[in-house]
Amino acid sequence: MIRVEGVSKHFGGLRAVNDASLDIAAGTITGLIGPNGAGKTTLFNLIAGVYAPTAGRIHLDGEDITGRKPHQLFARGLVRTFQIAHEFASLTVRENFMMVPAAQVGERLPNTWLRRPAVGRQEDAIREQADAVIDFLKLSHVADEAAGNLSGGQKKLLELGRTMMTDAKVVLLDEVGAGVNRTLLNDLGDAIARLNRERGYTFCMIEHDMDFISRLCDPVIVMAEGAVLTVGSAEEVKADEAVIEAYLGRGLKNRPANASTPAATTTNSPATAQLSTEPATPAASA
Ligand SMILES: Nc1ncnc2c1ncn2[C@@H]1O[C@H](COP(=O)(O)OP(=O)(O)OP(=O)(O)O)[C@@H](O)[C@H]1O
Ligand SMILES: [Mg+2]
Repeated sequence: MIRVEGVSKHFGGLRAVNDASLDIAAGTITGLIGPNGAGKTTLFNLIAGVYAPTAGRIHLDGEDITGRKPHQLFARGLVRTFQIAHEFASLTVRENFMMVPAAQVGERLPNTWLRRPAVGRQEDAIREQADAVIDFLKLSHVADEAAGNLSGGQKKLLELGRTMMTDAKVVLLDEVGAGVNRTLLNDLGDAIARLNRERGYTFCMIEHDMDFISRLCDPVIVMAEGAVLTVGSAEEVKADEAVIEAYLGRGLKNRPANASTPAATTTNSPATAQLSTEPATPAASA
């Protein structure tokens, strides 16, 4: 579905993505993992058209989409969420969902006057669609709440729900699970699995929580230093020595044993294999 061939993105002298090649096959939930700064978000930005690559080609369904703009790709069903949720804080949850459909008749001002009935019908349809998304994500109790008042986890569900208001085919999820409590993480995982199964969404998800990755993703792609290190099932990847080296060889230096680092960034569950020992720093991916 998506093919990335020898793609690089350099920021000045920094090789954020460096000759990366990978496939995201249709119908999969593909995991993308790697240490902080590995180039995962930059790769998403390249696929989604936010940046044009310094080198390499990107294909969507066999068509070369290198250098296409985000709105062109969005129209082709390629949707991404952000590492930091992008909600409209003062609008309600329902209104946030209703904002999404791109070609709303009501958005063009003359139509609101000349074609009132059409606008009304379209708005009703969008409202119904929003309510279906709210049900699907179990957000009914906060449907009329201002989005700014949601918990971090609920904002992630909102972010996922926004993709359901589009004709999404491929959804790129950048750390939707980060900072989300166990209960909501389960809901989020269920929603992703259902969207994949029932709606045929293809997902590629960046995540640091290996339990979450193992539960949902096959295959898992590991990036380090801008390049693809290995690809395999979650089990294979966990057993791969190069992967352990990429994470732990570097990550261990930041463990609390090193006095220069503040207290351990405890994971939300002791059983969680949190591959990154640094907290996910939003600043790194703005
Ligand atoms: N717009 C930018 N300008 C300059 N450098 C950038 C830019 N975006 C990212 N970088 C750098 O590129 C490298 C890769 O960053 P990226 O955000 O892609 O990593 P990541 O794998 O998503 O990390 P994290 O797990 O922390 O989110 C980092 O060194 C980062 O500082
Ligand atoms: Mg990132």
